[in-house]
Amino acid sequence: MTSIDLDGQVALVTGAGRGIGLASTRRLLKANARVVAKARSLDREVRGAFDGLAAEFPGDQFVVLEGSVTDAAFVEETAKEIFRRYRRLDVVVNNAGILRGAYLGMISEADIEDVLNTNLASVIRVTQTMSRLMRRQKSGSIINLASIIGRRGNPAQLVYGASKAGVIGATYSAAKELGPLGIRVNAVAPGFIETAMTADQLEETRDRVLSNISLGRAGTAEDVADVILFLASDMARYVTGQVIGVDGGLVI
Ligand code: NAI
Repeated sequence: MTSIDLDGQVALVTGAGRGIGLASTRRLLKANARVVAKARSLDREVRGAFDGLAAEFPGDQFVVLEGSVTDAAFVEETAKEIFRRYRRLDVVVNNAGILRGAYLGMISEADIEDVLNTNLASVIRVTQTMSRLMRRQKSGSIINLASIIGRRGNPAQLVYGASKAGVIGATYSAAKELGPLGIRVNAVAPGFIETAMTADQLEETRDRVLSNISLGRAGTAEDVADVILFLASDMARYVTGQVIGVDGGLVI
């Protein structure tokens, strides 16, 4: 079996404290990458998960930086810190995201600003800043978290859907601009994945979604992380500008 080995490579994962970000961090570490994990805040749960990883992957292999992807100065500082420590950056997983469901009449100004800023503007910001490091070495893989909702839409998710459709558009354009520099840019579009983000779904909504999944189950964070690991690796060396659905055949 061909296995993925990212020895010598450096990865940045945003929103790494839980869910898909945490699973991706774990996969990348197990594949021998050095991982810089960005988390908005280190609450007890996040700290516990990170302490476990730090014990398993000691030294410079696992580094935690606390701050928000919406803070341009923090993103800039992160790039400087990565350069100072490792002098290179090979993989970026633009994973941080928020979901605020609201029917059209109930969408607030704050929802529009927060969701677009976190889910879309930060992907542009992080891509702009981190691709500067990748340009130096003429290689890299950027993986953006889109969503099936950005492709198909869903009631009460107009802002979220727009942010994720925007991520897809940003992925296509970044792939065209950065391809000649040796940097690949792709997106994954998960369907219904069991994480904190989907935990508070009503039973009725959950049952309806599950009945529309061809593979008959909700996805796990690891289901998504495995595709992210593939896109990060040399196995995907000829793949760029793609949006890969990780949804078990969900129809919405
Ligand atoms: P989650 O809610 O468990 O994790 C999201 C992470 O992003 C959290 O660690 C959170 O602290 C972090 N985050 C949010 N705002 C941030 C900020 N301003 N700065 C830094 N970190 C921030 O959600 P999950 O499910 O792991 O989602 C990960 C990504 O996958 C998101 O972009 C989400 O939109 C996307 N996705 C998730 C799906 C699902 O069914 N769970 C389906 C489709 C896409």
